[in-house]
Amino acid sequence: QATGVLHGRSVVITAGPTREAIDPVRYLSNYSSGKMGFALAAAAVKAGASVTLVAGPCQLATPAHVTRVDVVSALDMQQAVSEHIAHCDIFIGCAAVADFRPVQVAQQKMKKQQDHDHMAIELVKNPDILAWVATQSPTPFTVGFAAETNEVAKYARDKLERKGIQLIVANDVSDATIGFNSDNNAVTVYWPEGEKAFATSTKESLAENLVTLIAEHYKNFKKQ
Ligand code: C5P
Repeated sequence: QATGVLHGRSVVITAGPTREAIDPVRYLSNYSSGKMGFALAAAAVKAGASVTLVAGPCQLATPAHVTRVDVVSALDMQQAVSEHIAHCDIFIGCAAVADFRPVQVAQQKMKKQQDHDHMAIELVKNPDILAWVATQSPTPFTVGFAAETNEVAKYARDKLERKGIQLIVANDVSDATIGFNSDNNAVTVYWPEGEKAFATSTKESLAENLVTLIAEHYKNFKKQ
């Protein structure tokens, strides 16, 4: 039971997809529902934390006692995170941030060019919000998510190290019964010296177990 384990702690969580505008009526995005991040926000509140949820576009009710900041694009999300990260103890990057955004956003609706069967949109990489938070000083205890389709452990451990974070929660998105839009999830959490697997359960129940694990690791974390 997670009750109280984050008493007095400040937690910032990102959730949901981001939308990257192409023109006034079109965007690039992904199928993230935001359910896992919202469940984590509710579980962190239940554990006594004060929680800011930076949410990309998603159709979910704000959990009780959560401060929600709605954003659209990855750049908006980074801006909102930077405004709320200063006094935060724990940062959980649960959002499915679009890796790229269009270089140019057309000010008018793009027209179909009748004589062209192909068109190209040039993309530029978005900032990695999680990796950026992990470079801030003082750095909060940072937790990331990794959605993988193969060699889950290898890629998750690689991200843990590359992004300089404390914990990574990996799920196998090749299994359609869990992850992304599903109500259930099964994950393995990795940290430099160990790992722990959580069997399939509802995102609510998983969120409570993850908050308990995060709180245990946070206790031994020295802020730098
Ligand atoms: O590298 P990858 O996108 O798989 O990493 C996933 C993790 O990094 C998630 O925790 C996600 O929220 C975070 N992330 C981020 N900003 C990005 C890309 C990913 O915060 N631009």
